[in-house]
Amino acid sequence: MAIIFNEEKKMFHLQTKKTSYVMWLVDDYVLLHLYYGERLESLAGLEDTVNIFEESGFSANDYNLEKKDNLMSTDVLPMEYSFFGSTDLRKPAFHAQYENGSRITKMKYLSHTITASKPKLKGLPATYTENDKEADTLEIKMHDELTGLTLIYRYTAFNEYDAITRSVTAVNEGTQKINIKSIMSLSMDFYDNEFEFIHLWGGWGRERYLERTPLIRGNMNIESRRGSSSHHHSPFFALARKNASEEQGEVYGFSLLYSGNFEAGAETYNREHTRVYMGINSFDFNWLLEEREEFNAPEVVMVYSANGIGEMSRTYHKLYRERLARGKFRDKERPILINNWEATYFDFDEEKILNIAKTAKIAGIELMVLDDGWFGKRDSDNCSLGDWYENKRKLPNGIKGLAEKINALGMQFGLWFEPEMISVNSDLYRAHPDWCLHVEGRGRSESRRQLILDLSRDDVCEYIINILCTYLENAPIAYIKWDMNRNMTEVGSAKLSPDRQQEIYHRYMLGLYNILETVTQKFPDVLFEGCSGGGGRFDAGMMHYFNQYWTSDDTDAVERLYIQHGTSMVMPPVFMGAHVSAVPNHQTGRTTSLKMRGDVAMCGQFGYELDVTKMTDEEIEEIAKQIKYYKSVREIIHKGDMYRLKSPFECNCTAWEFISEDENTVLFSCFTAQAKLYLTENRIRLSGLEQTADYKRREDGKIFNGGVLMNNGILIGELRDFESKVMVFDKIIN
Ligand code: DGJ
Repeated sequence: MAIIFNEEKKMFHLQTKKTSYVMWLVDDYVLLHLYYGERLESLAGLEDTVNIFEESGFSANDYNLEKKDNLMSTDVLPMEYSFFGSTDLRKPAFHAQYENGSRITKMKYLSHTITASKPKLKGLPATYTENDKEADTLEIKMHDELTGLTLIYRYTAFNEYDAITRSVTAVNEGTQKINIKSIMSLSMDFYDNEFEFIHLWGGWGRERYLERTPLIRGNMNIESRRGSSSHHHSPFFALARKNASEEQGEVYGFSLLYSGNFEAGAETYNREHTRVYMGINSFDFNWLLEEREEFNAPEVVMVYSANGIGEMSRTYHKLYRERLARGKFRDKERPILINNWEATYFDFDEEKILNIAKTAKIAGIELMVLDDGWFGKRDSDNCSLGDWYENKRKLPNGIKGLAEKINALGMQFGLWFEPEMISVNSDLYRAHPDWCLHVEGRGRSESRRQLILDLSRDDVCEYIINILCTYLENAPIAYIKWDMNRNMTEVGSAKLSPDRQQEIYHRYMLGLYNILETVTQKFPDVLFEGCSGGGGRFDAGMMHYFNQYWTSDDTDAVERLYIQHGTSMVMPPVFMGAHVSAVPNHQTGRTTSLKMRGDVAMCGQFGYELDVTKMTDEEIEEIAKQIKYYKSVREIIHKGDMYRLKSPFECNCTAWEFISEDENTVLFSCFTAQAKLYLTENRIRLSGLEQTADYKRREDGKIFNGGVLMNNGILIGELRDFESKVMVFDKIIN
């Protein structure tokens, strides 16, 4: 059992391969958070490491917690979960208003269960188990007698995957209405604040840049109020000890499986304590919970690493690759694709697409993706979203006819959709002007000339499911690119009552998850790639449905070093759509070599996005070589462990290493953005190898000892601007 309840001490002990997580039930009433860190084999003495009678000026004593002459205050104790309204005046995880106007929540322990495996989280994305031995689940029921509210704290300890998940369910078991104003999925207290905060920020074309900053005395908050997790912040952060690096030191990672408005952060207090929190954003949120209704908050995945940030990332990568992703392509190699977007934008017809496909096929590309512009009257981004019927001028034989012709070339066919959107200039909008998010009496602000369909409505969701299923049933479509190109404004729904309007953001997400679940489960052989103006909604929630995600609209190889490096904090490389595009690059105007563009894109889910018909024979030959090479190493990148050796955020050079699942092959890639004479790192130390084993370099047959590669490093030589070097080492097995 990975979860034990110690009856004598009244402590819950969750264990994974390398970590322990301990909660303490005091007086059968309050649940304290005692420990999270390196695995403990015994809890002896743990209760004496916290003074539960600690007094603090201006912190009130909980009237339910009076113990002999001592008094307890939940304001200074490490709480497992926190409620607004009584003595804990720090940031509350739960805040509600009851029928009589009261906002006081006081939960008392009721019962708990421990079971093998992991139950499903209704309507929401979640990690899962494949057999009962992989994980245990603890559910602790807390109850408030006065209001009838029950909260269920749910924890799953994944043993081998070395991660712990948390979620919270609220059930109204009383007779009065409850308005939930805030329900965090995670709240946890640390006894100190000696941490640095690592998070991913960005914007369109510049997603998931890495920032590491000391905690402030106050609230360090990241969030989205944009209706999706957004380009601006990712629903992920880590607390790292000040000395923690890629390879050593303590790091705690927190990743939310949610794609809508979220908030997360760390608040420190006068006693130098830290409270971390993460969940649905409580800003503009109110959920009316009627009698016998329940509300599920999304899942948080927590990873503790005693061995640096790199190990934290590798733990996330493996868990997300194997127990968050689903479907045929979870374990199977994905096809190398070519997308026509940067090749043609809206200016294409069947002939142009077929010509691109023919040349791509010669080079060895496996899948042709037709992007935006194939439907309605869409020749620019100002119309037709919602009118999902083929534009016969561009495609006289329709999608089916084109797909069959592509198949006849020996390639698979993929198609772009933006199902959540509606153009004002569309037949759909003319027929259903109330199907979009809007507020009566207010204007409807367009972004990219489009509005957002109201996915809190069942009829709208059904319409989307029908469209997608019809195409997938009637044409040989092997891949769907699911795009979403704006933030939400004037968020209102024609179908919901006034007292439920603040539920729309979350109801939208539930509607979207339902559509994605239905379509992806119905077509398990189709490869789904997510996209939101590039990587705008590239979060762990989405990766339960999509096998890969278009990482950024910025396809410049140098920019991609930053974007892919930051993204790899939590997302495995196999999730990251990465394409070779034309030069000068369409976003930055920069010219880099075809080699560097290929080498960078190969560190993700490899593909192309340029007009191959305009390339020279030599270039097509080089592409063919890249593809041959990629096929020989792709399994290492897909299933192997990634080590970040050099960060573009810290030096002139970026270096990544991938070690195959069987640990016998090592792929090393390094890149320079800006060469600095005698300064560009010219010797880079590898990581994660077997110290005593010898490795043979494929390129020249030279033998290197693992210890030499890790402790002395490999000689790179001077790299010029935009240069890359890739090497493969095979372990010599005697
Ligand atoms: C935004 C995406 O990120 C691009 O790759 C492309 O699909 C366009 N939308 C099409 O409108």
